Amino acid sequence: MSPDEVRVVVLVDNAKGAAGLRARWGLSFWIETPHARVLLDCGDSDAFLHNAERLGIALETADAFVLSHGHYDHGGGIGALTALAPTAPLVVHPGASSPRYSLRRSGKREPVGLQESSLAALQTAVARTVWAVSPLEVAPRVWASGPVPRRHPLEQAKSTFFLDPSCTVRDHVVDDQAVWVETPAGLIVLCGCAHSGVINTVRFIRETVAGSGRGRTSDDPGSETRSLPAAADGLPVVRALVGGLHLLHAGRDRLRATAEFLATIGLEACAPCHCTGKRATTMLRDRLADAFVEVATGCELRLAYSGGRT
Ligand SMILES: [Fe+2]
Ligand SMILES: [Fe+2]
Repeated sequence: MSPDEVRVVVLVDNAKGAAGLRARWGLSFWIETPHARVLLDCGDSDAFLHNAERLGIALETADAFVLSHGHYDHGGGIGALTALAPTAPLVVHPGASSPRYSLRRSGKREPVGLQESSLAALQTAVARTVWAVSPLEVAPRVWASGPVPRRHPLEQAKSTFFLDPSCTVRDHVVDDQAVWVETPAGLIVLCGCAHSGVINTVRFIRETVAGSGRGRTSDDPGSETRSLPAAADGLPVVRALVGGLHLLHAGRDRLRATAEFLATIGLEACAPCHCTGKRATTMLRDRLADAFVEVATGCELRLAYSGGRT
């Protein structure tokens, strides 16, 4: 990898990639920047290990592991991960360990929380756990959002997840968080499932960066300070958005609002995957044109650190 690039590798996604890689329902991203290496999520099993080995990625060099939320398809490999990289901090919200269930349209109830093996691994790794209760820098210029305020009226749909096996207590997935990378050309945002809503998530990150004064980023300590570029609304540009957008059951108004919003924030690349859904993916492909990027297991997105796709 060039030292002046940000590289996002899709270690696991539902979509099949190259032969020899294991595609699974779930998500795992390897993020490499000139300053840091971070793993976001680890799929539903040890498939991420298998794929990382095939792709020549040394997971044990990770500076941090971030769990986007406590669903089985994002944290199923935690046991394997903690054995592999015993010192990297685990960045997770306390709510990720909640028992949780999904009520299907058919009426079928299914457990969707973390597996027993993952819960046990989280318990044994508590000494190196960092609780993500607010935005925090997990590695140089790589941030975890912590919980995302749910503000957009179209992203207030009733959750189909529950905290009890009888499916009476709704689970709003309060542990849901995203990751962002700060580069001189803008932000790169990565979502696990975006259960908080992608508009809410992106807005929260941009406002957090702008409000904290990090709308300006120092590229090298002691050197000239550069400004993060701003989009038309005055908030920092989001140059790339990658991940599951959880729009499978979204209505037309929400899909349109999402596509319109994403068209205004300066995206060079938008790579929706995992739980985004076909209708949303088609709409985003049409609306974002050249910025739309199709990804699958094993794909990688490369962005020049200072701007532009490579
Ligand atoms: Fe998911
Ligand atoms: Fe999820």
